[in-house]
Amino acid sequence: MSRITITVNGAPETREVEDRTLLVQFIREHLGLTGTHVGCDTSQCGACTIHLDGEAVKSCTVLAVAADGSKVTTIEGLAEGGKLHDVQQAFREHHGLQCGYCTP
Ligand code: FES
Repeated sequence: MSRITITVNGAPETREVEDRTLLVQFIREHLGLTGTHVGCDTSQCGACTIHLDGEAVKSCTVLAVAADGSKVTTIEGLAEGGKLHDVQQAFREHHGLQCGYCTP
């Protein structure tokens, strides 16, 4: 087990995680942010994409302990001041509202 702190959508989050915990599991299961999906077992679909220190990465390919001290932005973190981000608004306008596994 390791104690890690990752700043997620602007808020520092500290948790105890198993060293094998994937970043996507940390985001979904430890933080309850379910906008980041797991759509495959082969690191190909991109449904788990987040921004890690400003770079788009597949969070199913990163261990949570490797992201210790980093800044993560998930889809939930794109809205500002209650206003949807352009990407979120486009999803809404074009009915990309369900599971999103096929969106990437
Ligand atoms: Fe498919 Fe990460 S879940 S690439």
